[in-house]
Amino acid sequence: MSLSLLAGATGAAVAVPAWVALAYLVAGVFFILALRGLSSPASSRRGNRFGMAGMLIAVVTTLVTHDIANIVEIGIAMLLGGIIGITIARRIAMTAMPELVAGFHSLVGLAAVLVAAAAYTNPAAFDLLVPVTGTEAFPEPRFMLDPIARVEMALGAAIGAITFSGSVIAFLKLSGRMSGSPILLPGRHVINLGTMATILVLTGLFAVTTPVPGWVFPAICLAAFIVGFLLIIPIGGADMPVVVSMLNSYSGWAAAAMGFTLGNTAMIITGALVGSSGAILSYIMCRAMNRSFISVIAGGFGAESGGTNGDPREARPYKQGSADDAAFMLEQAEKVIIIPGYGMAVAQAQHALREMCDLLENKGIEVKFAIHPVAGRMPGHMNVLLAEASVDYDKVFELEDINSEFATADVAFIIGANDVVNPAAKTDKASPIYGMPVFDVDKARQVFFIKRSMGGVGYAGVDNDVFYMDQTTMLLSDAKKMVEDIVKALD
Ligand code: TAP
Repeated sequence: MSLSLLAGATGAAVAVPAWVALAYLVAGVFFILALRGLSSPASSRRGNRFGMAGMLIAVVTTLVTHDIANIVEIGIAMLLGGIIGITIARRIAMTAMPELVAGFHSLVGLAAVLVAAAAYTNPAAFDLLVPVTGTEAFPEPRFMLDPIARVEMALGAAIGAITFSGSVIAFLKLSGRMSGSPILLPGRHVINLGTMATILVLTGLFAVTTPVPGWVFPAICLAAFIVGFLLIIPIGGADMPVVVSMLNSYSGWAAAAMGFTLGNTAMIITGALVGSSGAILSYIMCRAMNRSFISVIAGGFGAESGGTNGDPREARPYKQGSADDAAFMLEQAEKVIIIPGYGMAVAQAQHALREMCDLLENKGIEVKFAIHPVAGRMPGHMNVLLAEASVDYDKVFELEDINSEFATADVAFIIGANDVVNPAAKTDKASPIYGMPVFDVDKARQVFFIKRSMGGVGYAGVDNDVFYMDQTTMLLSDAKKMVEDIVKALD
């Protein structure tokens, strides 16, 4: 069989069969096509299939060429993992996706730490030993852990440990098992920078000292676990989506670093793709929420703004309406813009909403959907739900494309959204959502606002002036029930 030479983990030339290199390359191309497909709801299914095919090629190639673990053990582990994965995927509610994703990222981080620990304790099995040049006193060759592999191992373990502890905190916060409010330690930036500098110094020590002192590797892991914890505890409220996507990026870099240690090209490619796409998504979300990308990476961004979660709210007058009122006004309109949010996902109102949209269009009314980049609880949450209800993609518009159209809309129909239409983001510097671009629903002639009660708040926990505007009618009910009643009235 022909062999191609690739630079392996140790920097030494490692012989890799040509077909293996080619298979990993094909898998890498499939992953890139998957990312491209996932960039639009119309092509996302195709993108998913590319991703699955790429992963199948990568896994089969690795299994065929493996020489570390027993194939039966690997098979049992894959079977158990597969059963757990399928069970979780079937049971999980769409609204709990962010915490599930955070939980999965923690496993990627932990896996990176464990692979690094395995490679450190048994370097011969990972082909990570290099000869120490013989001297007169020791003429026969002796071996040591390759210094380059040590750097890869230390960085992989450190990024993995940061991903692990950060993701565990994100999971606890998102699932409500820990308070979502920021926990601000005095001098936290100095502590974070100091701990990161310690990791770098220890990595240097780990790379150049032979034999490596036994305490150095565990100390790197411990310091990194602490950094992950410190980076996420100061982050609260509405900033959590960016954290999840940032941890996604970290988990990719941890996997890429482990790819170097294992000399596995597919892992390097996949890790780099996940790392960079996660970083790009974090950047896009930071822009959507008007946050600084650098301060996100440094941790504790936006924490100074402080949440108003749980603050007592003064009672203010508002207008309440019924499904019949809404149906009557909708029928008079020429242009309706629907703004879905988290509450639509909770109520699973997307199918009823599609029916309402069809009825209005049959009456000659123009209907558009306005999607905020952080509406719901995960990137693309609303797009997925609307696609599930077969809403045409060409009726769905991003914030920057539709915001100017509210001035010409007869009705802004807000269903389960709250923070993404809150004008406090534009006017109140003390608000935790200050600076986030929001829909200009106040410019519409008439606003309908569906939520269950006046007591409930959005994710950021703040009051919303839109409830009390002259042109706003509150439709207080479960979103699905209210839209079904409107559909009946329109019929
Ligand atoms: P939110 O601001 O969370 O508001 C949800 C609204 O839905 C509330 O007014 C709630 O009021 C209502 N609601 C809940 N269940 C309902 C039901 N069954 N029927 C009718 N209404 C219901 O939603 P949003 O505007 O979509 O904003 C998203 C927020 O989540 C942002 O702050 C964002 O930063 C944050 N976040 C986003 C993500 C991503 S990536 N999208 C991830 C994590 C956090 P009632 O309780 O009174 O019904």
